[in-house]
Amino acid sequence: MSLKTIFSTGIVHFKNINLNHNKTLSFLKNLNYINTYLNLSEMTQSIKILEESEYGKTIKEIFNYYVEKAINEFGYKTNFEILNSWGTRTNPGIGSHPHRHLNFWLTTTYYPYSDNFNIIFQSERNDLPDFDIPIENFNSFNGRSFNLNVESGDLLIFPAKVQHSIALNTSNSIRYSLATNIIPRGFIGSRDSHIFL
Ligand SMILES: [Fe+2]
Repeated sequence: MSLKTIFSTGIVHFKNINLNHNKTLSFLKNLNYINTYLNLSEMTQSIKILEESEYGKTIKEIFNYYVEKAINEFGYKTNFEILNSWGTRTNPGIGSHPHRHLNFWLTTTYYPYSDNFNIIFQSERNDLPDFDIPIENFNSFNGRSFNLNVESGDLLIFPAKVQHSIALNTSNSIRYSLATNIIPRGFIGSRDSHIFL
């Protein structure tokens, strides 16, 4: 007997990436944040933070290396570009609402420092039963949400369409993350559906 995975959603999880985490935390702390929703996580005013300083450009180069590795891991071969980049700031006692990043292919989130921070992914799969059947072993065949604990220096790369939210910050530390959105570049598709991005 075998249980085959015929379709699945993947998150590429890099540990302790080759970036100066303390310096990047300071970089994030010094940006301007705005409140998009009352009592929820804040985000930077700019969505081009990796274009606006020399250090930002350095971070982008390092991210490019990991994004390329993740794309290979997902089994694709394409050029890409990190188009948008922003910081999030989440005070103790708050989180974010569930959201997806429309108009993009991949999303990355990086955590220069974690005090037991979490990100929650929610499934929108239509292949799961409408019955709320009791689960004995939680796995990728039956899960509707996935709580991922992140550590200082972690980088996550996942499809932008996967719904996710910043878990309630239950620590006494302010939670900072650096997020990016990515599009494929170059010749995509075939015949009447091809496009050059
Ligand atoms: Fe997000």
